[in-house]
Amino acid sequence: LAAALLIHTPSAAQQEFTIYAAAADDLHIAAEMRGIMAAEMGNDWDTDHPGWRQRFAEYFSNKQKRGDSQTFFARVGDEVIGMATVSLVDEYHAYVRGRLSGRVNSVYVARQHRRKGIGRALMHAALEWLRGKGCAVARLNASEEGVALYESMGFQKRREYELFF
Ligand SMILES: CC(C)(COP(=O)(O)OP(=O)(O)OC[C@H]1O[C@@H](n2cnc3c(N)ncnc32)[C@H](O)[C@@H]1OP(=O)(O)O)[C@@H](O)C(=O)NCCC(=O)NCCS
Repeated sequence: LAAALLIHTPSAAQQEFTIYAAAADDLHIAAEMRGIMAAEMGNDWDTDHPGWRQRFAEYFSNKQKRGDSQTFFARVGDEVIGMATVSLVDEYHAYVRGRLSGRVNSVYVARQHRRKGIGRALMHAALEWLRGKGCAVARLNASEEGVALYESMGFQKRREYELFF
């Protein structure tokens, strides 16, 4: 019983995964995972946005090569089971006030690996990257499932509006 308990302590679970910075040429893996995430949220991007996978990989790969973005992967064994992407955002405060801002996108952990601290570890890596770039703020759109994680890390809800044409 003692051994079984030990295996299930959070610290033991946390040692089962690795977080690492993705290579710019590996972002087709991120696109695959983003497709799975969209499907889980009830969206079929292949029907709605044909060719999106290639454009996704291209966009973040080019941005990463310029030093303006980084994707992080979580790996268990040889399998990539989670991701988070961060980017520097071009907006006027950054220029006017010299306050760089960052955006977090595509935070995903495969269902069978959730609640082991992987999402939190991915977010830590992502936010550290933005801090290292000198960002004064990080922003994201939260899914319902992400709210608890983001709020526990200090994210606060603000008052941004949007209008679709
Ligand atoms: C959101 C998501 C990335 C969290 O990943 P995860 O690896 O399970 O997160 P963690 O194990 O690091 O959880 C960290 C904390 O967040 C909170 N949390 C995470 N999932 C939660 C859930 N389903 N319900 C309530 N709280 C939750 C908890 O406080 C948790 O800490 P605890 O397990 O010690 O209680 C994952 O659920 C996911 O991929 N969901 C589908 C895609 C999605 O919604 N992504 C976010 C887009 S903005």
